[in-house]
Amino acid sequence: MRTQLSFSNLAQIETELLAVLAADTQTDKAADAKPQPVLLTTDAAVKAVSATILASGEFKAGANETVLLHAPAGLAAKRLLLVGLGKQAKANANSARNTAGTAVRFIKPRGIRELVLALPESDSEMLPHVASARAAVEGAFVGDFDSDTYRSERKDQSTESFTLAAPAESDKAALESAFAEGVIIGESQNFARSLVNEPGNKLTPTLLGQRAALMAAEFGLGWEVHSTEKLLELKMGAFWSVSQGSAEPPALIVLRYEPEGVTGGPILGLVGKGITFDSGGISIKPSDKMEEMKTDMAGGAAMLGAMRAIALLKPRVRVIAIICAAENMPSGTAQKPGDVQTAMPFSPDKPGKTIEIINTDAEGRLVLADGLTYARQLGATHLIDAATLTGACVVALGHINAGAFSNDEDAWAKFDAALTISGEKFWRLPLGEEYAELIKSDIGDIKNTGGRYGGAITAAEFLKVFVEDTPWIHLDIAGLAWAEDSKPYIAKGPSGVAVRSILEWVRRY
Ligand code: BES
Ligand code: MN
Ligand code: ZN
Repeated sequence: MRTQLSFSNLAQIETELLAVLAADTQTDKAADAKPQPVLLTTDAAVKAVSATILASGEFKAGANETVLLHAPAGLAAKRLLLVGLGKQAKANANSARNTAGTAVRFIKPRGIRELVLALPESDSEMLPHVASARAAVEGAFVGDFDSDTYRSERKDQSTESFTLAAPAESDKAALESAFAEGVIIGESQNFARSLVNEPGNKLTPTLLGQRAALMAAEFGLGWEVHSTEKLLELKMGAFWSVSQGSAEPPALIVLRYEPEGVTGGPILGLVGKGITFDSGGISIKPSDKMEEMKTDMAGGAAMLGAMRAIALLKPRVRVIAIICAAENMPSGTAQKPGDVQTAMPFSPDKPGKTIEIINTDAEGRLVLADGLTYARQLGATHLIDAATLTGACVVALGHINAGAFSNDEDAWAKFDAALTISGEKFWRLPLGEEYAELIKSDIGDIKNTGGRYGGAITAAEFLKVFVEDTPWIHLDIAGLAWAEDSKPYIAKGPSGVAVRSILEWVRRY
């Protein structure tokens, strides 16, 4: 998608479609209070041509509501699309992101290949120009994505050109840089989505390693991709135990971002679950919906998307990403319930923790345990992990919020602040000694499941054992990695959740 920032007069822009935002200014909360849609532009021609439809009451400017006008009088554009931002009192850069996605998804199935979106004209506190511009570009890229790479006849062709039209008197330099950021972030989120879309046979751990290496080489990140030999050398007994049942070797993917001149300060460790297919192993899953388990590398994909954006945005902090990729399969060589595994030791003189395997389907925490330890061994001072870790998290929060956990208030405060920019929904869940009790084992140090109740929390407690005192954030994205339904601004399928929040968290260091 070609992108451009324009400072031309709206009425004079020649385009297939001009999209203008409108908000509902009605503040009366009474049920019978009529919506009061108002355009977020003062352009006289746009206002004149929209006056009738706005007065009709047919278009309420609800969030992502659209109405199309052909051959708008007085405009050089062939079509005018009004897109609702919802209630003006609640509108912010995150709603602007969605409206841009809505406009792109509106044109895609209609064979229209280009559009111009007008940035809300007044630079207000709720809808600041810079944040809205960045979010709008992100939204345009996110909206343009469809998971149709394997369809011979693609229904909705990609948008060729997206232009954001800003008022002529704007701070051009600030808008240009926000716009460029939006392109990077939107493309990076889509990069993660494209990986999550890949089926297990097209994206084995080895192939995920190749995709990561290609990306790293393209954007100037340091990279290493290891396999079985390295896992055994590092004594990654937990990670290896998951891969041992598969004919596909594991991949230990390490990416490094080392900004020039930054020698001290924190080193952020990004650890992702990269299970390219999760059959459950010997504790095999029911066949219903098992195909969805190709998405079990979405945490790893989120880290790769975030690293892509980090490489391009160049924050002044060192970052290491570790993706533990494996396929969880049942076979004659697979691990069994009752087996005891020894996790990677933090230092060669200390033994690793022993883990009693209760359920081979609780594999994500096993690969992450060794990934987290390795990140610390490589010098990470702060950790964040992302994983499609538990069905229990989906039961608790549905497909609306992803789960988040932290052992450190400062790291959490940074993540919480990141969420206001990313617009992503994460809900913090508790940790605690009583939960940790539930994963104590009679046979080894810990066991890999803590029973049915509080399953997302006991999984987090398992990870916490390997984090020790390092400040840490854990993201359980099981319910959000893959969307069952499309929204006006985003297609169903892989969501790319967590890429934007992880990136913003990193930038806060
Ligand atoms: N990958 C699954 C979790 C999952 C569930 C992801 C639904 C996406 C959607 C994970 O490896 C798993 O199987 N977890 C088990 C853990 C249990 C055996 C303790 C679960 O949640 O059932
Ligand atoms: Mn599993
Ligand atoms: Zn899994």
